Amino acid sequence: MNKKIRSKIVPIIGLQWGDEGKGKGVARIASKLSSKDLIVRFQGGNNAGHTIYHKGKCYVFHLIPSGVFGKARIHLGSGMVINPGALLEEANAIPKNVPFLSRVSVSPHAVLTLPTHLLLDSISEKSKGGKKIGSTGKGISPSYTDLVLRRALRVGDIFEKDFENKYQELKSAHAKTLETEFGFKPKRKDMEELEKKFWQGIKFIKSLKIENSSLLVEEALQKGSHVIAEGAQGALLDVRFGHYPYVTSSHTISSGVGTGLGIPPSFVGSSIGIFKAYTTKVGEGPFPTELGGHRSAVWCRDKKVLDEKARFPVADPNCNDPFEQGVALRRSGNEIGATTGRLRRTGWLDLPLLKYAIKMNDAKELVLTKLDVLSDFKEIKVCTEYNIKGEETDEVPFDLVHNEVTPVYKTFPVWQGKLSDYGKKLPKEALNYIKFLEKTLDAKIIYVGTGPEEHHVIERYW
Ligand code: GDP
Ligand code: IMO
Ligand code: MG
Repeated sequence: MNKKIRSKIVPIIGLQWGDEGKGKGVARIASKLSSKDLIVRFQGGNNAGHTIYHKGKCYVFHLIPSGVFGKARIHLGSGMVINPGALLEEANAIPKNVPFLSRVSVSPHAVLTLPTHLLLDSISEKSKGGKKIGSTGKGISPSYTDLVLRRALRVGDIFEKDFENKYQELKSAHAKTLETEFGFKPKRKDMEELEKKFWQGIKFIKSLKIENSSLLVEEALQKGSHVIAEGAQGALLDVRFGHYPYVTSSHTISSGVGTGLGIPPSFVGSSIGIFKAYTTKVGEGPFPTELGGHRSAVWCRDKKVLDEKARFPVADPNCNDPFEQGVALRRSGNEIGATTGRLRRTGWLDLPLLKYAIKMNDAKELVLTKLDVLSDFKEIKVCTEYNIKGEETDEVPFDLVHNEVTPVYKTFPVWQGKLSDYGKKLPKEALNYIKFLEKTLDAKIIYVGTGPEEHHVIERYW
């Protein structure tokens, strides 16, 4: 660490409960990078689902950083949990004419997700009944649990002679837990299928370049290359600072970049924070500005409401019923989970939560996504403060799970017609809204998302 570091890592962090549009944001930034630059993931696993449109085709990345279609090198960092079979499947979906294998590397410290981790995740969720977290079922929590229990298998282990023995040992330990704690014995055929994918994935990882995240990142920074750390999930799902226990199992905030890559905090710069023009959430847990309450997403899932072709029922965004507005927001925003296909819960933008997330990540620059989705509304609301027991505050209480929180709203008029009708200009109502957000959040909104495709973006301050 003697040579001078010439640049800092830029974390790109979701400021809400995930699915803010990080994939599209990272792909946009990646398109400006060169082959000397580096895009890394530092936490999470294939619980993430990052959607990008490239040349009219839709791709969803779960483990591979979203910069695949750019020139920069890509790295799956030490703080990740990697399901080998899922990685192989994802790599196979990348068009063959895109140079991928020559640009990708994986950290030996990353934790492997075993087939039995998937079972432990889904069975333990089931056993919680009404107290479930709503996990993605990808084995994330059991994989990180094994790391802390100091018995995890890591990418570096796959090159050891006794790896298969170690695998069998951990698998037996998991099987014991499944049977004694949950009375569950996997069917042999299911297990064989899962294990087949796992071992194919291990073979694939063996063919990849294994690189120590710390050294790779330090060298890139010394050379003055750009290093982008692509966050997964969102700040409000951080294992410590999210709304525990309704969180994921890793540090999703920018401090996680240091421990997730094995580098000192001084290497990490201010974040670019990404947020939607409203709020969504998959999974359980508190959601103060939710429209229509949890029953809205449940109602939409109901087979009686949905037919096979229409994923979302029609609803009037401009009626006074919050339930119906929530349904309309889900439909306009196509709010369906990229990893699990679950319908997302919907609600208005929540500024106390955004301020909380911005502070934790030192997000000086922001990306506002899905502004176009608000076009169907005549007016929208933004929660500026919470009323808690008669007191108004913009501070997020420690216990958002049990506190009675009533949002205090400010209403904004919406532009006429579609946002796309205005081309690369923003209507005055949209600009007013953006300026209000910039002032209240004390940050610059550098990109505005105007649709799902790569060209659907307005760049500001460039
Ligand atoms: P991520 O997990 O943060 O990468 O976000 P997801 O991919 O899970 O979900 C974001 C969804 O919004 C995806 O379907 C994107 O294609 C879509 N999206 C991203 N930005 C915009 C935008 O500005 N407008 C619209 N309408 N859709 C967007
Ligand atoms: P991206 O990167 C939205 C949520 C799950 C659940 C909780 C715990 O696409 O934004 P886990 O499987 O991690 O144990 O689930 O976290 N969750 C996400 N929600 N986007 C994600 O990723 C998520 N990854 C996990 O729904 O509530
Ligand atoms: Mg997502």
